[in-house]
Amino acid sequence: MLNPIQIGNITISNPVFLAPMAGTSTLPFRKICYEHGAGLCTTELTSARSILYNGLSKSFRYMRIDPKAEGITSIQLFGSEKEDFTNAISQICNDELLGQVSIIDINMGCPVPKVVKTGAGCALMKNPKAAFDIAYASVKEASKYGKPVTIKTRIGYSQEKDNGVEFVKHLAQSGIAGLCVHGRYGTQMYHGVANVEVIASMRKSICDVKIPFIANGDITDGPSAKNMIEKTEADAISIGRAAAGNPWIFQEISSFLVGDSYTKPSSGDRIAMFWRELNEACSLQDETVAVKEMRGQMSSYLKGIVGSSKVRSALCTALTRDQVRAILEENYGKMSFDKP
Ligand SMILES: Cc1cc2nc3c(=O)[nH]c(=O)nc-3n(C[C@H](O)[C@H](O)[C@H](O)COP(=O)(O)O)c2cc1C
Repeated sequence: MLNPIQIGNITISNPVFLAPMAGTSTLPFRKICYEHGAGLCTTELTSARSILYNGLSKSFRYMRIDPKAEGITSIQLFGSEKEDFTNAISQICNDELLGQVSIIDINMGCPVPKVVKTGAGCALMKNPKAAFDIAYASVKEASKYGKPVTIKTRIGYSQEKDNGVEFVKHLAQSGIAGLCVHGRYGTQMYHGVANVEVIASMRKSICDVKIPFIANGDITDGPSAKNMIEKTEADAISIGRAAAGNPWIFQEISSFLVGDSYTKPSSGDRIAMFWRELNEACSLQDETVAVKEMRGQMSSYLKGIVGSSKVRSALCTALTRDQVRAILEENYGKMSFDKP
């Protein structure tokens, strides 16, 4: 149903992607998603302005990639000034590690007030000229290093400013190598239902440009993935919230699309995967910070496991791996895996 796609010089064999999610699409989780069949996993958004003011070090934790383990990598930037993007791209591409990134992704969809009030994220949909200038300048800068640029946006800023089709038609002329559309207006944040029809009309409007189109929003399983692909004729799909704590979703969807069977992970598999991600997160940063930052993911991994609401509340008080382990063992029995 889906074929390999080409984003600039990068070939992606499985067009089922992990959508960027702040606090979730961290390096440990992206590695796990790749192992479970995701074709592309993008980092969470990083401020291009912050890179201009502070260099790479302050934002490094958000952009950290592991090209050997991940294979294909994509770093997402947000901002409102083209100069911030060209500077950030140049710094990234000149860095020994980050310079190995495969793709630069630009966020034109974030609806969070802190981002929108600076004219960045989804606010760029209200300012198509600035959006085009950012895309064009970024493509030009990234091309010096042989890196393709993609954009992730929404179906519009608001239903009243329903300019998604015009917006992407214009943007597609900037030289970008791929476009992802989340089927909600910015003002909807994450409420309501993703509008597949508007995604489809945006897809149609840029058919002649021949760049991969990625559809996103409310894909939670095989049938919803199939529906999105059929209705939008997208070249790829990306999964956000349904992948949190559920990296198996990439196998589930890919199997469904080719008619193969799929076995859901057991509770033990999910606890073990959570434990692995937690340990990897702890190896990259301060243990207490990692344990606290993993709280959302802990909940997602345990969702649906019998009695997990009590365990999830208890885990939210844990500050160390040993405390996490003790809570898990108290509720689910001795764990059969050791702390690395
Ligand atoms: C907690 C959270 C964080 C997100 N962070 C980002 C981000 O950093 N960059 C981005 O482009 N989109 C971000 N998104 C939006 C998702 O990539 C995706 O577009 C949205 O969740 C819809 O897809 P879904 O229905 O599969 O979740 C975020 C979404 C959530 C729920």
